[in-house]
Amino acid sequence: MSNITFTMIKPDAVSNGHTGKIIDDIITGGFSIKAMKYIHLSKEKAEAFYGIHRERPFFADLVAFMTSGPIVAAVLTKDNAVTDFRTLIGATNPEEAAEGTIRQKYAKSIDANAIHGSDSDENAAGEASFFFSAFEMH
Ligand code: RTP
Ligand code: MG
Repeated sequence: MSNITFTMIKPDAVSNGHTGKIIDDIITGGFSIKAMKYIHLSKEKAEAFYGIHRERPFFADLVAFMTSGPIVAAVLTKDNAVTDFRTLIGATNPEEAAEGTIRQKYAKSIDANAIHGSDSDENAAGEASFFFSAFEMH
């Protein structure tokens, strides 16, 4: 069990003005923010970040969406961070997301689904170091 996860508030949620409410939900959910940045991903960065999905039919749409506007990337800490954060954000498809979850409240579709959360401790560590230097995560 690790205490680190990585998140991005996605372009739909940033452009719809939900950033503050989502950060509030994250803190109220018991997470601490270790590092945070507001950036606009390049196509190359988005393709590399979601490289595991390169062969999937939705890959081009996913990269186009993730580069359509700025995102907020953050490293979060909490006991059992990965699992608890996936619970806080809800299912990938907001139509299936549990009541009160971030995706149920703020996501519009499976593509524009408001927020990313790491799916394993190993990926959380890799994603965090993709965006943040060791100095920034100190
Ligand atoms: P994320 O990585 O963004 O936190 O989302 P996730 O783990 O819940 O879902 P994942 O399987 O990793 O997929 C990454 C993103 O690709 C889009 N997707 N579309 N049309 C589809 O069947 C489909 N499946 C996935 C979603 O936007 C998902 O967040
Ligand atoms: Mg995923």
